[in-house]
Amino acid sequence: MQIPNTIEQSFKVDYNYKLHFTTNLFDSSNSLLADILKSYNAENKVKILFVIDEGVYKAHPLLENQIENYCELNNSTIELKAILVVPGGEQVKVGDKHLNKVLQGINDFNICRHSFVAVIGGGAVIDMVGYACAIAHRGVKLLRIPTTVLSQNDSAVGVKNSVNYFGKKNFLGTFALPYAIINDNAFLETLEQRDWVSGISEAIKVALIKDKSFYNEIVEQASKLKNRDVQSMQYLIYKCALLHMEHISKGGDPFENGSSRPLDFGHWAAHKMEHMTNYSVRHGEAVALGMAIDVTYAKLIGLIDEATLQSVLQVIKQVGFNLKLPIPKQDVDELLNGIEEFREHLGGKLTITLISEIGKKHDVHDIDTLKMKEAVLAFYK
Ligand SMILES: NC(=O)c1ccc[n+]([C@@H]2O[C@H](COP(=O)([O-])OP(=O)(O)OC[C@H]3O[C@@H](n4cnc5c(N)ncnc54)[C@H](O)[C@@H]3O)[C@@H](O)[C@H]2O)c1
Ligand SMILES: [Zn+2]
Repeated sequence: MQIPNTIEQSFKVDYNYKLHFTTNLFDSSNSLLADILKSYNAENKVKILFVIDEGVYKAHPLLENQIENYCELNNSTIELKAILVVPGGEQVKVGDKHLNKVLQGINDFNICRHSFVAVIGGGAVIDMVGYACAIAHRGVKLLRIPTTVLSQNDSAVGVKNSVNYFGKKNFLGTFALPYAIINDNAFLETLEQRDWVSGISEAIKVALIKDKSFYNEIVEQASKLKNRDVQSMQYLIYKCALLHMEHISKGGDPFENGSSRPLDFGHWAAHKMEHMTNYSVRHGEAVALGMAIDVTYAKLIGLIDEATLQSVLQVIKQVGFNLKLPIPKQDVDELLNGIEEFREHLGGKLTITLISEIGKKHDVHDIDTLKMKEAVLAFYK
């Protein structure tokens, strides 16, 4: 028999996950978590390992106790294995120290592919724990419980996770879906003002590239948002998460095989800025500045008019961002290297998303470096 040169393989997999909204998840009267675990396994207890962001742990001193009581109350559904605490913020993503602690926990407490890790924290802790869950046993079940605005409306609702390695942000990571995400708005009460504001930039971003009416709503609600109006924030988070999730499911490229990443509008400068400031700038703060630079550039190359530029800069400031660059002026050329590094991380041809009007993205494949430098320098005034 002649052996063929090729065996062709092709199959499709359906991906599903839900984002739930609740208040006081671990209140004894709140059945959401138990219901989610029952939906996975109605017959047997599900093993669960909690990993908590230290910032959340300290701001919510009763949390550990509440989790223990909740699991005890629902002990026909939940088998609590342990509660680990890891540092909050970008430091937790650096190298493998904290990653190893989570992997060790998964091993020590016999978390298998049919057991859960529930991570409670900001985007950094969620990225790191998500990565641990994706690689341990080639994937254990992950419940994300994001506790910052940015993680509730953007980073935790998607399909990516990562740690920083070789000094490079998100160098190690996978596309791996959570089993579910639970946004508990009670966690937001303890955020520092900068973390309350920081995530609003991702909502402005997604509105600018996709949804003019959402943009107008943000403009209208800007001062309420800045002043911690809970209802305005809940709506912003809901709408931003929805647009984000729709982009993943309907945008045609959930695992980013193409070169265009519209959700990374404003992000080439943001990623570089975070790195150059040793992450003293929050991701959302850097995105606000990155968008401000890119809309200024869009105006300089004639893509948008002055009124559009001023509207965008104004709303960014009105929700509470400071549009002053946090790096010394002599390092601007280094910041501009972020364009090439962004291309490298994506692979393939350079694609920078700009806007041609509010609510409409516009991809460009060449950047006029002199004009981009002029755009950057505008934020030293
Ligand atoms: N995976 C993705 O698709 C994706 C997308 C965007 C951003 N990210 C990542 O998300 C990270 C940024 O996340 P972030 O903005 O949530 O910041 P963060 O995770 O760095 O948290 C900021 C600070 O807030 C504290 N904190 C968290 N929740 C709190 C609460 N409820 N009360 C009091 N303190 C609390 C943390 O301990 C930390 O000190 C970055 O690493 C970024 O790269 C990932
Ligand atoms: Zn982002």
